[in-house]
Amino acid sequence: MTVKKLDRNFFQRLFGVCVTRKPAKQEGWTFESGKLTVDLQAMPELSPEGSAVRLEGKGLAEPLLLVHGDDGGFHAFRNRCTHGKRALDPVPGTGTVQCCSVGTSTFDYSGKLIEGPAKGPLAVYGVEKQGETLLITL
Ligand code: FES
Repeated sequence: MTVKKLDRNFFQRLFGVCVTRKPAKQEGWTFESGKLTVDLQAMPELSPEGSAVRLEGKGLAEPLLLVHGDDGGFHAFRNRCTHGKRALDPVPGTGTVQCCSVGTSTFDYSGKLIEGPAKGPLAVYGVEKQGETLLITL
């Protein structure tokens, strides 16, 4: 697998400024009893393959990165690099997610470390698609 680096400048890397944003409408997702539910119709940011959103708050113990993958599937990750806990972004067209920091640790959709100084795999959560709803088990 070829590891491609997202185009970020030195300061963005130094301060760990990720590309991925929170969804514009927070009402597009809920978290109850360990189940995270996403209404895709209320989250247009996730329409194109290669896109992603950051989900934080609402009682989540850890921030989550939700990716609409290049494979057409949806993938959820603990949004903390296993090197220095910085956030991650998808790298469109590569089937990977990448740390926004200087080390650019890169993982595949299974969470396996492909390249970089990270100490281990990324936690991946199960995603089940039912129509236009995603059910994510944490
Ligand atoms: S925090 Fe991710 S590579 Fe260093």
